[in-house]
Parts: sequence; structure tokens; C-alpha cells
Amino acid sequence: MSELVTVTVPLADRSYRVIVGHGARTKLADMIPEGVRRVAVVSQSGMPFTLETGRETVQIEIGHGEHHKTVSTMETLCREFAAHGLTRNDLVIGFGGGMVTDVAGFAAASYHRGTAVMHVSTTLLGMVDAAIGGKTGVNIPEGKNLVGAFWQPSGVICDLDALETLPEREVRCGHGEMAKYHFLTGEDLSALPLTERVARCVEIKSEVVASDERESGRRALLNYGHTLAHALEIATDHAMAHGEAVAVGLVFAAHLAEVMNRIDTARVEDHIRVVEGDYALSAAIPEGLADELLLELMGRDKKAIEGLTFVLDGPQGIEVVPQVPAASVLAALRQMRASQSPGTPRTTVGS
Ligand code: GLY
Repeated sequence: MSELVTVTVPLADRSYRVIVGHGARTKLADMIPEGVRRVAVVSQSGMPFTLETGRETVQIEIGHGEHHKTVSTMETLCREFAAHGLTRNDLVIGFGGGMVTDVAGFAAASYHRGTAVMHVSTTLLGMVDAAIGGKTGVNIPEGKNLVGAFWQPSGVICDLDALETLPEREVRCGHGEMAKYHFLTGEDLSALPLTERVARCVEIKSEVVASDERESGRRALLNYGHTLAHALEIATDHAMAHGEAVAVGLVFAAHLAEVMNRIDTARVEDHIRVVEGDYALSAAIPEGLADELLLELMGRDKKAIEGLTFVLDGPQGIEVVPQVPAASVLAALRQMRASQSPGTPRTTVGS
């Protein structure tokens, strides 16, 4: 086993460890809280390895894809927990990518009004984002993750062995979130060795979560690039995966900030260089999605309490900006599309 790195998410009496590295799963049994007798492992078909919990364990598989991230799946899980006699002193383990850990976390948060959960994350995106920080939830037709709870895990395992068989598309999704950390910190993470890179992302996220666990302020910065991203996921009926959509959303956020005279063209180019260059991601808005539809979906974002709200770069750094004019959003979409069409000169739009 190569070196394992431990990052602590510091949340007073709910602090927990995140173990990162090849073979990290071997630490699972020792991390299980005292008193746990039964474990329910929530996962999907095709897991890259098996888990040894050292406890009486039931495996429950859920379907693949965002369409299974529903209240109905959550209910099925809770009924399975009950059928297997899980008590509130027992443990749920979310074993998989972000979709699995979000649903398993929400089921654990609700079952007996709160049962302990741990996550064993098997995707890059899950390791650097979804499994850390206690956001759990499911989708409803009106929006992504609109029903959920904050429920911190008791521990997280990021076993990098899982990444060896991870499909290329899933790797790209993780890179979308890593590019986000680049802009939040100014650090070039792309050149770090894998263990350090994942551990650094976990550290960055932990620090933000510890400062604002329930997103009353600073934690919203973790949604940089996410307002358009969530709209794209819904508009494409999830054909566009989350991390892919975040890559587009980051570049869009830069265009919007430029349209609003918050940053200059060089900073927009910087976003394009990091997203398309360092992380080799596409920043193109898919063809056939009307700007008005994207605008409407962005208006339904959870942050949109005081009108259209975005996380935007600016003279004070990246911050939450409420009451963004719809005209600026439409202008930024036009500017971005124009800059993407080969041979089309970049449109200049005012604020
Ligand atoms: N994925 C954003 C957050 O956990 O706050």
C-alpha cells in the first residue's frame, strides 16, 4: 500500500477523518464508530472492490444514473434498513460515486431521524466534492438536490484504487470540480501527484465547510460555475454529467463577470486556459438549448432568493452576487456562444 493521507474535517464534536490513498479501504473497519453492530452498504452494480466492515453487513444496490436519485429510492433504502433490523446505533455506508453517497446520506439522515453514515467514494468527483461536507439529497422534477439534509458522515474513505478503472468521462467530471478549486484558491493542482491532488481538494473543501457548514455564506463559493451547470444538466435531461456541466459553467461565470465589468478579458481567457488547457475539458454550451430556457432554469437555482444569483469573480475575488440582471445573463450567453463559433469574432457587449 502506498502512503495514505489523512485530512480532518474540523467540526467540533462532529469532526471526522478523510483517508486518501491507494488501499485506503483497508482502514474502513477501524473507522467504524464504536457500538455499531449492523452495517447497510448502499452501492450499485460494478463496484471496483469489496468492503470488509467486520460487522454483520447487508448490501443494498440502487440503480445507476440521476433518474434513480429520487425520494422513491430513498424510501426503498429506508425500508431495506428496517427489513434488516438496522437500529439508530448502526451504520449506513454509501459506497460509490456522488449519486450513491448523496442518496445513502439522505436515507441515513432520515432513518430513525438520523443514523450514522460513512462514505467510501469511488469516483474522482465524489472524492474531491460530493462525499465531503455533509450535503445529502435527491432530485425532484422541479430541480436537482431540491430535497435533502445536511448530515455529516462519521468518516470518508477515498481509495484511489477505484480510479484505475474509472471511465474517462467520470475522470473528466472530477476534473471539472478540480478546476473550480483552481479558481477558488489560485493554486495549480493539475500538476500534483494524484494522492496529494485529491487530498488538497479535500483540504480546501474541508476548510470552507468548517467555516460555514450550513451554507449561510462562504460555502456558497463552492457553487462557483454551478448555476449554469445545474441548468445544463436539467436542460439536457442529465445527458450532460455534473462535472462536464461545471466546466462549462466556470467559463460562463467568467463571461458573465466580464459582461458586468467585474473582470477583464484576460481573466476570462485565464478561465478558458485552465478549463480547456490544464484540465482538457470542453467549455462549449451544447447546441440546441435556447438561452431563454437556460435563463429560466438558472432563475430556479437554490441560491436565487433575491433574483438571479451567481457566484462571480471580481475585484474582491470570487463572491456571491444577487440580483444579476437577466439582460446581463443573456448577453453573457451570447458572448460565450460567439466566442466558441470558429471564425466568429468575439461580440462586445456592455453591462
Ligand atoms: N458541492 C458543494 C458543497 O458541498 O457545498
